[in-house]
Amino acid sequence: MHIPADLDTPALVVDGGRLEANLARMEAAASAAGVELRPHAKTHKCVEIARRQLAHRAAGLTVATLAEAELFARAGCDRLFIAYPLWAGGARRARLAALHERAELRVGVDSLVAAGQLAAAASSTARPLQVLIEVDCGQHRTGVPPQDVAGLAADCLRLGLDVIGAFSHPGHAYLAVDGVAAAAADERSALTAAGTALAGLLDRPPVLSGGSTPTVYDGMARPLTEARPGTYVFGDRQQMYLSGMAEGDIALVVAARVVSAPRPGEAVLDSGSKALSGDRPPWLTGHGLVLEAPEATIDVLSEEHAVVRGLRTPLAVGDLVRVIPNHVCTVVNLARELLVVSDGVVTDRWPVSSRRTAS
Ligand SMILES: Cc1ncc(COP(=O)(O)O)c(C=O)c1O
Repeated sequence: MHIPADLDTPALVVDGGRLEANLARMEAAASAAGVELRPHAKTHKCVEIARRQLAHRAAGLTVATLAEAELFARAGCDRLFIAYPLWAGGARRARLAALHERAELRVGVDSLVAAGQLAAAASSTARPLQVLIEVDCGQHRTGVPPQDVAGLAADCLRLGLDVIGAFSHPGHAYLAVDGVAAAAADERSALTAAGTALAGLLDRPPVLSGGSTPTVYDGMARPLTEARPGTYVFGDRQQMYLSGMAEGDIALVVAARVVSAPRPGEAVLDSGSKALSGDRPPWLTGHGLVLEAPEATIDVLSEEHAVVRGLRTPLAVGDLVRVIPNHVCTVVNLARELLVVSDGVVTDRWPVSSRRTAS
């Protein structure tokens, strides 16, 4: 990816051609598998990219917060799944009701008490709120065990919620470089059990929604009827290990400048933790891959400094470098805009619109 030499750094630079290729590749994989695509928009938080995902035949978007859902609905992307155990108490009750009136909304649920709040929020609206029961497939974050899906679904139906299926997230695929296939298999088994549990309760086939970027690239297979990859749009350093993405597939880099070179073999970049975030899985060394010095390690981050060590060819003060971040979602969350480049020229600036202000 070529980037302009005079960039103000740190900056997030997106290669428009690579982004488009990633969108097309996922569209083709979903369509070959006969699975609907509902990509997770928390990766980009950007209306321009959401519109491109929908143009690549996404059935809708997945989001994590009510604020993200409101933002995308305002922009006209109004088929939305909040894949999160949303707490709809307090001021959120009226916000959820208003969103439900104007959008095709689905919400995740994994407890009776939160389901009660969702039902209360939807009670003033014209139609029942659609919910998906979250099933824990092995990440052990949120979600009920498969054997509890039928009970919670029956409770939700009694509350007047429209249960349309179940969802899970195989986040344990990220725990080790060789754990993706096992996590995907765990998810298929949990969703199969959830589907069987729901078949007796619902009068239509349940939506069975799953996925993460590594597991959908491992294979989108039944029982999944819907896949929710997020990170695939850009890729990142983790995906180079987990999803088989090559360096040439990575559509976003952090452009950074060398601001100090105080010792031999070392350089300091202006992309500290406020640009690169601190996310680093235990199996990955360093805080990003410097494309100009792949042998080196971003060893230490402070807020505005990234200390690179192990340089074989020195970097000089003023040099511009491109860093593939470890985890792109947390990096985008820190940015205000994405600079889109084509052949080394900035062709567009897309705002990161739903930066977290309220959830
Ligand atoms: C509930 C849920 N669905 C989908 C995704 C997307 O997964 P990935 O970032 O691996 O593409 C995430 C990511 O955190 C998630 O939490």
